[in-house]
Amino acid sequence: MTRVIVGVGGGIAAYKSCALVRRFTETGHEVRVIPTESALNFIGKATFEALSGHPVHTGVFADVPEVPHVRLGQEAELMVIAPATADLMARAAAGRADDLLTATLLTARCPILFAPAMHTEMWEHPATVANVATLRARGAMVMEPAHGRLTGSDTGAGRLPEPEEIFSFASLLLERTDAVPRDLEGRRIIVSAGGTREPLDPVRFLGNRSSGKQGYAIARVAAQRGAHVTLIAGNTIGLEPPASVEVVHVTTAEQLKVAVDKHAIGSDAVIMAAAVADFRPVNVAAAKIKKGADEPNSIELTKTPDILAGLVQSRRDGLLAGTAIVGFAAETGDEHADVLTHARAKLARKGCDLLVVNAVGEGKAFEVDHNDGWLLGADGTEIALDHGSKALLASRVLDSLGPLLR
Ligand code: CTP
Repeated sequence: MTRVIVGVGGGIAAYKSCALVRRFTETGHEVRVIPTESALNFIGKATFEALSGHPVHTGVFADVPEVPHVRLGQEAELMVIAPATADLMARAAAGRADDLLTATLLTARCPILFAPAMHTEMWEHPATVANVATLRARGAMVMEPAHGRLTGSDTGAGRLPEPEEIFSFASLLLERTDAVPRDLEGRRIIVSAGGTREPLDPVRFLGNRSSGKQGYAIARVAAQRGAHVTLIAGNTIGLEPPASVEVVHVTTAEQLKVAVDKHAIGSDAVIMAAAVADFRPVNVAAAKIKKGADEPNSIELTKTPDILAGLVQSRRDGLLAGTAIVGFAAETGDEHADVLTHARAKLARKGCDLLVVNAVGEGKAFEVDHNDGWLLGADGTEIALDHGSKALLASRVLDSLGPLLR
């Protein structure tokens, strides 16, 4: 059982911390909640006590013989501060210890994750920018806030990322034994995700089982490592757009190609995690195809463009000079060869820099939350990707991509 401290700052987004606490407890973590005094203006102590199953204090003078700020900090395996207000991050950056939460931040030696929430002006203020830089320089992870509707009628950067997104990133910090680097600052990365759909008539299509989870995880982790990410999303199982990522929605392989080619220009990397249809119906009926005299007995198909191969060709032609290209391969072994042999042949055929290989079938890779596989490099390197969350696999792919960027 992992010991997690959820620190709650005094902002309206404090209500979302309840869902986060719940997410940790129901996945078997031992959670202690430490709100600031002002957080209790938004959520009552009793709520946090009931959700965590532990008493809740804001000051250092409760339970004095227990010296809770030292004990809690020393025992914690992860601290997540959500919402992290401008004031709370300023106090943390200054090393103050004027309440239980900031005192505990000083005694903790575990990974610390801040999930900021504030108005755009406050997030962009040089004071906050400097405080965030200080916290990051000391090894804390400060998430990028989401863009969108703020407390009033205004919109901008500063929304608290959704509890599920904070939970997923927090889980990654627990899963990875080494720190998640912030190594993609200033980089522009294009990620395609999800499956394409090729229409047959107004109600039917040819599609595939891709959920989009792996591509979304790559987009999410890349953005949290500082990249400007454009996510070109096909069909997914209704995934929430990741915080701080630009999302372009497409349906067909042709639309995906147009979007990828457009956004790839001048980018640092393109990661093709989308499951692209290889074939599409030649004719798309304008009206619903009916049973009866005119019913078809076969569907004529034609090949769709190979987007990945097209990117590699564009780079050879000098159009995408300096753009790293990553492909995915979902493979099964067959009577000719095993998964890795097929994958090595695919890497050579496609000509990309990295190929992420997943063995599929029997409940693996598609639709599930965990993944494993191999990462093959054009330089002959082969890295086994251990079984873990899709965020962990994403972060390992980005670890290998980093050194390839110009
Ligand atoms: N891909 C693509 N365009 C296509 C098909 C696939 O860009 N029309 C990309 C996928 O996004 C993935 C990689 O190519 O990154 C490999 O996809 P996969 O379907 O495994 O490859 P195929 O070339 O279709 O090979 P296979 O013969 O195994 O179907």
